Amino acid sequence: MNLVCLRDVTRTVILPDGEDLHILRGVNLDVAQGEHVSIVGRSGTGKSTMLNIIGLLDTPTSGTYELDGVDTTRLSEGRRARMRGEDFGFVFQQFNIFSARTAAENVEVPLLYAPGPQLLRRRSIAVDMLERVGLGERADSYPGEMSGGEQQRIAIARALVRRPRVILADEPTGALDPDTGRVVMALLEEVARESNAALIVITHDMAVAARAQRAYELYDGTLHEVEDPAAFAHRAEAGHGGDEAGAEQEGTESAVAEPPLPPAEGDTESEQASSPMMSEEGEQ
Ligand SMILES: Nc1ncnc2c1ncn2[C@@H]1O[C@H](COP(=O)(O)OP(=O)(O)OP(=O)(O)O)[C@@H](O)[C@H]1O
Ligand SMILES: [Mg+2]
Repeated sequence: MNLVCLRDVTRTVILPDGEDLHILRGVNLDVAQGEHVSIVGRSGTGKSTMLNIIGLLDTPTSGTYELDGVDTTRLSEGRRARMRGEDFGFVFQQFNIFSARTAAENVEVPLLYAPGPQLLRRRSIAVDMLERVGLGERADSYPGEMSGGEQQRIAIARALVRRPRVILADEPTGALDPDTGRVVMALLEEVARESNAALIVITHDMAVAARAQRAYELYDGTLHEVEDPAAFAHRAEAGHGGDEAGAEQEGTESAVAEPPLPPAEGDTESEQASSPMMSEEGEQ
């Protein structure tokens, strides 16, 4: 059974002038345990709106969303809040970590809402998780004393500390240089794989998108599967001078060995040529 299952999900909001804005117009998505899926799309196409629905931060206007076979639209707000804490780990572009708390204290935050044993052992669980992301030595450092890549690793440790079944990442590499972005993605993938979690990554970066088993583009309010993400990345780089291409930054130290990108074989001319991501010049 699929862990995440969206059927004909729509999301419509009413603008101040009384007009309806149809952000999502019928999204279908299936993600199984252990799968890594990426979603690209131009700014304003509804990617975050969709991720918020998946993460139970928002509800569809119509359609169904089942999480592990449970219809989430019929749950009480209390149950949704509990599931949000237990089943989901969120990683954002701006890290969203507390600057007045140390690395370990940041990672402890989700454990404050966990059952007794985890609550009591939160410091050691948090430090273990920081070790897992290569920051064991920095448990008592404050975010302001750490690099962007390290801060994102704190955010990853915090997202994963309760072993969520679904990891939702909204532009996780958006504030990082390409090399650090690759390290962070490799880490995210590795810890997701370890706990057999589903990993759903939103990104503007085709090279990040191409790391997933499946990639989708969101436009016209629906998801369109990208047939060959590696070729997509390759062509997008050529088309918009993508920030991944030929990046020659100083090496950042890597906590984990990075898996190679899928080979860029053959170009798929057909369908992708018509997608908005491919036809725009430069804006992404
Ligand atoms: N509550 C709301 N009320 C009105 N408009 C909204 C609301 N939420 C989202 N929107 C609009 O819906 C559209 C989609 O927003 P969303 O944040 O999902 O886009 P996105 O694809 O994540 O964009 P970006 O890549 O810039 O983050 C935008 O035009 C946004 O202004
Ligand atoms: Mg967004």
